[in-house]
Amino acid sequence: MIDPETVTRLDAQAQQILRANDKGGYTVPTKGLYPFQWNWDSALTALGIACFDADRAWQEIEKLLSAQWDNGMVPHIVFWQHEEGYFPGPGEWRSERTPPTSGITQPPVAATVVRQLASFLPGDHGARVTPMLHALDRWHQWFADARDPDGIGVVAIMHPWESGRDNLPDWDAPLAHVDTSNVGAFMRRDIQLVNAAERPVNDDYNHYMALVQFGRTCQWDVKTIAEKCPFWVAEPGMNAILRRAERDLIALAMQFNLPEIASRATRRLTRLDHGFNQLWSDIAQGYTTLDLRNKKLEHRLSSASWLSLYGGPENDIRAKSHYSNRIEWRQKIRFALPSFDPGDPAFDDIRYWRGPVWAMINWMVATGLAEHGRPDLASLLADDTAALVEQSAFREYFSPVTGKGGGGKDFSWTAAMWLYWASPSARQKNGDTITWARSNFAMCANPFAMSR
Ligand code: GLC
Repeated sequence: MIDPETVTRLDAQAQQILRANDKGGYTVPTKGLYPFQWNWDSALTALGIACFDADRAWQEIEKLLSAQWDNGMVPHIVFWQHEEGYFPGPGEWRSERTPPTSGITQPPVAATVVRQLASFLPGDHGARVTPMLHALDRWHQWFADARDPDGIGVVAIMHPWESGRDNLPDWDAPLAHVDTSNVGAFMRRDIQLVNAAERPVNDDYNHYMALVQFGRTCQWDVKTIAEKCPFWVAEPGMNAILRRAERDLIALAMQFNLPEIASRATRRLTRLDHGFNQLWSDIAQGYTTLDLRNKKLEHRLSSASWLSLYGGPENDIRAKSHYSNRIEWRQKIRFALPSFDPGDPAFDDIRYWRGPVWAMINWMVATGLAEHGRPDLASLLADDTAALVEQSAFREYFSPVTGKGGGGKDFSWTAAMWLYWASPSARQKNGDTITWARSNFAMCANPFAMSR
């Protein structure tokens, strides 16, 4: 139980962080380490901003979508203003666009956020939301065309950064096939700002830069990328988040009378719902990463395995195996949900995505658990998230073993998830389950949702 004064103090601090990270229309994830607009950070951060400034929350999404590429992609970083201290900056990506951006995307949580905002912010949102739905439809169509050109029903990532989970152990084997001999020397900036033990290792960075080099050499041409990129991997995080986003886009399109968008999204969703099955590992009893280039399925679980519950309705047998895996993991650590299996030798409690807990993943997994009739497990995740913030404030991520914070400080999405979901004051206001009920699958328009 967090005492009421602490809750009031943390609520105020979270708001203050979001205001301080506001650059005018967009919010940086944290000053110094990430000084631009990041795609999924921005969308998730809008949920926190909405708790105190509705108009500003909508602007966050509008600004992100205004950087959409002509081919529909919404980039992972938008370099709205010049900043010296970040690597790799616009000169490495060479997007040849104004504003400059990176050349890759990130998990498309935006449609889900728009649906959440439209459902609880007061007012008639039609005029504001309609252009967003057109942009989201084009982005989701880009995923289908560029990242699943053969129509197999899972979308691929061409860079670990596209998953948003940069150094997950799942990427180790597929990255080993990426040639780094032409990368040359470069200077990392992240480890000048954050303890190197909490960040990806240098060898990871060589591989990241080799893939950036590949992309810019083909000028980010999606056909060349799909045919030749040495890293081409389908993973449950991106795919579950996209399935969820399509469901939310369908609901919004019906609500705002855009039937063509609803039917396009339904067609895409049907393919994705069926295709997701390819990521199931009988050995791991969960959804894992499929290396499409080397035809190899990973058999270790990560926190994204649970996102299947957020992606759409899960069948009972698989849902039960998620719950028991989840409980088994929790017994090995103090705070859920670690980003990687705490029983695996590759687990590292403080190194970024090889173990640490991330507040926004907890929110997504909790949403899925509640929607599958497990508010008990969902509440445990909110409790753990709140306890971590109480112990270590608004850090980028947390050790599931000690609760120690890692990476950047005063982090936007941690502050946002606190305000929107994990803070006892938010839970009291929302009656604990209201944020989940808001997005219940009952409103799902997809007739094929249960057929997998
Ligand atoms: C790291 C994270 C990614 C996030 C970005 C900005 O790259 O792995 O998920 O979007 O930082 O916070």
